[in-house]
Amino acid sequence: MTDVVPAPTAAVSVPAGVPCLVKDMLPFGVVITSTRPDAAITEVPIPWLRTLARECHLIVLRGFATVGATDEFDAYTRAWGTQVVWDFGTVLELREKASDDPVFDTGFLPIHWDGMYGAYIPEFQMFQCVSAPPAGEGGRTLFCDTSLVLADADAETRKVWDSVTIRYQASRIAHYGGVLREPLVGSHPVTGIPILRFSEPTPEDRQVANRPVITMEDVAPDRAAVIFEDMRSRVYDPRHLYAHQWAVDDILIADNFTLLHTREPYLSGTPRHLRRVQIQGEPPLANCRLTAA
Ligand SMILES: [Fe+2]
Repeated sequence: MTDVVPAPTAAVSVPAGVPCLVKDMLPFGVVITSTRPDAAITEVPIPWLRTLARECHLIVLRGFATVGATDEFDAYTRAWGTQVVWDFGTVLELREKASDDPVFDTGFLPIHWDGMYGAYIPEFQMFQCVSAPPAGEGGRTLFCDTSLVLADADAETRKVWDSVTIRYQASRIAHYGGVLREPLVGSHPVTGIPILRFSEPTPEDRQVANRPVITMEDVAPDRAAVIFEDMRSRVYDPRHLYAHQWAVDDILIADNFTLLHTREPYLSGTPRHLRRVQIQGEPPLANCRLTAA
């Protein structure tokens, strides 16, 4: 896994007059840093960022003047497109608290894509870092680029994956839930590239709130367990995984159609506060395979 380690070169050209520098990260994504201390994030054109997010799948914006409070982040993200509105509103305050939703816990969180149990699959996730856990103490957000996983798979493996449909069932006790029957391999709604839709079964020895039931349709359990374990090792493979070590005021944009994500466990009481907004696709992508539990 890698932190923000820019690669030496980037093929991305910056629009004239925009005070920033773009560098590739490893194994994917770009980091955009401000070249003027007082530069505001609003000086970076959103259409350019959106195109870049679709090409590179993940953008970190660092060193810009702080976006500030919840309503300012809400306003910035609203300029990106149609926000997903949940029962809590548009901005999810991600910090430790007692909840039926494991996203607020500090322990194991299965890798997943956002919206898998919602009415719509958002195209982008946008995060703001309010407080960051110290380096080396867990709490990094992990992103897997599934197009890289697919590119590294041999033809025989890919043939198996193309035949697999996974059934996910989560009780509707948090702000989401239902039964989802999802083919393992899909295609990106905008670019058409092959993508994976995968959420890992929680190991028996791990605790997780609202533990989903995850099975493979028409595959014997022993065989399914082998395929699940192989897929788990591939999505966490450092060649496909970017681990983001948060810094205060980071803004991160992730392509939720191509990437899967989770976060590392961290110690209870560690300062970690992120804000998250989801932006709908254009047009919004309905989660048509989700049914009520
Ligand atoms: Fe998520």
